[in-house]
Amino acid sequence: MAGYHLLYPMRTYLIVSGKGEETNVMAADWVSVISFNPFMVGVAISPKRTTWGLIKKYGEFVISVPSLDMLKDVWTAGTKHGPEKLKEMSITLVPSKKVGTPSIKEALANIECKVVDARDYGDHTWFVGEVVAYSYDEKAFPDGKPDVGKAKFLAHASWTDFVTFDKKIYRTE
Ligand SMILES: Cc1cc2nc3c(=O)[nH]c(=O)nc-3n(C[C@H](O)[C@H](O)[C@H](O)COP(=O)(O)O)c2cc1C
Repeated sequence: MAGYHLLYPMRTYLIVSGKGEETNVMAADWVSVISFNPFMVGVAISPKRTTWGLIKKYGEFVISVPSLDMLKDVWTAGTKHGPEKLKEMSITLVPSKKVGTPSIKEALANIECKVVDARDYGDHTWFVGEVVAYSYDEKAFPDGKPDVGKAKFLAHASWTDFVTFDKKIYRTE
């Protein structure tokens, strides 16, 4: 068993990179918020990914938040390589607000990032992105909070196995 599985289940995201004909999408679990103000996020991406070269080339990426309904496309994004895979996917690319890399219309949210740092740790590069804009589906985030019972946020349990969240909320006060 690989030790990193001890940190699972983790949420799964889609990383959009490139633009125009070069637009590519990959799945990524290793994503984190790293600063509140300014809002910054990080994602660990292996240099083996086509996405890695595109983020290096354009200095920007979009983190798209998929729902369970997008699982088939998430799996394609996470197992195939390069922009050709988009022909097998049913996502709709739409212009982002502040970066040239497109957003995904069907996603629950799209977080637009400009790379401010990229550092290698072992076999992955930790790309730090400053969030320059975002858009989201108001039905998935009514009153600015995730509707976990309805939006079917996607999480990854182990290689082929994914889960979503229960409606039950455990409130602390
Ligand atoms: C659910 C899931 C999560 C993944 N998470 C990551 C990740 O966080 N970082 C990474 O480098 N690769 C991750 N991968 C692997 C890439 O998504 C995969 O190698 C993909 O085919 C790369 O596509 P590309 O070559 O078009 O960039 C993940 C794959 C899956 C299925």
